[in-house]
Amino acid sequence: MEIAVIGSGAMGSLYGGTLAEAGHDVTLVDVWEEHVRTIEESGLRLTDDDGERAIPVRATTDPGTVSPPDLALVFVKSTQTDVALDGARPLLDERVDVLSLQNGLGNAEDIAGYVPERNVVAGVTTHGATLEGPGRVFHAGSGPTRIGRYFVDDDDRVDAIAGAFTAAGLPTTVSDAIRDDIWEKVLVNVGINAPTALARVENGALARTQEGRRVVEAAVHEAVAVARHEGCTIRDDIVDHVVDVAERTGTNASSMLQDVRAGRETEVERIHGAVVRRAARHDLAVPVNRTLADLVRLAQGA
Ligand code: PAF
Repeated sequence: MEIAVIGSGAMGSLYGGTLAEAGHDVTLVDVWEEHVRTIEESGLRLTDDDGERAIPVRATTDPGTVSPPDLALVFVKSTQTDVALDGARPLLDERVDVLSLQNGLGNAEDIAGYVPERNVVAGVTTHGATLEGPGRVFHAGSGPTRIGRYFVDDDDRVDAIAGAFTAAGLPTTVSDAIRDDIWEKVLVNVGINAPTALARVENGALARTQEGRRVVEAAVHEAVAVARHEGCTIRDDIVDHVVDVAERTGTNASSMLQDVRAGRETEVERIHGAVVRRAARHDLAVPVNRTLADLVRLAQGA
């Protein structure tokens, strides 16, 4: 399969490198010149349970040099989807399937501004990866990935993508409820990301302390009401599920905490900010999420 990975940070490099190693024709696209140059010169250095190795893979900062692939995999930060896809227009023709495995709400809708709705595939992944430096990625944790067409029914091409990922060592299933799956992941991020970023604690602190559990419960309950008003089916034990994720990823600094620490823009507008905007459409009050969003905006220098 010909695959272009748009946004080759930690997760994009992990997916791109793993798929290239499995024999797919992969091009990594990223704006970080040193990262791209290092990969071009010495391959992508991937460290996982099998040890460290260099994987030869094409990389470029110029999407204009990439011919339309079978699959474009979008891994830019969710706040950058529009800008990245605008730059990647030359490789997006109407045959290209575009898959988002990004955090947050609204990515599939953004992608539909660039390719026909029938080409949009969305999903959730539980893999963890860290970029350790230019051209160097660490695979921190494995887990299942679920994908599905966002606007139309699934088809053989989605099965083929899931099959290719699974065969490469990235176990993936096709979901017939991908919108519910995306909301479930957003609820995990609602409960964990802003609280850990603001309190400057690792995920495990939310599971270990009464204060942490209270904040998770308050933020997630509000957001569940929004998800249900949007027509989604959300499991009844969702708060326990979020606490469980916080416990299992206990020593992780959440992506939002990493962003705040590094002075980078966070994904708050796609998580808590999106919950607040969608709540307004349904006349729902979400004071906890509004406050979390405002505090993160302040922390990142709104
Ligand atoms: O954004 C993150 O950090 C992750 O999605 C999660 C699951 C909260 C674990 O840190």
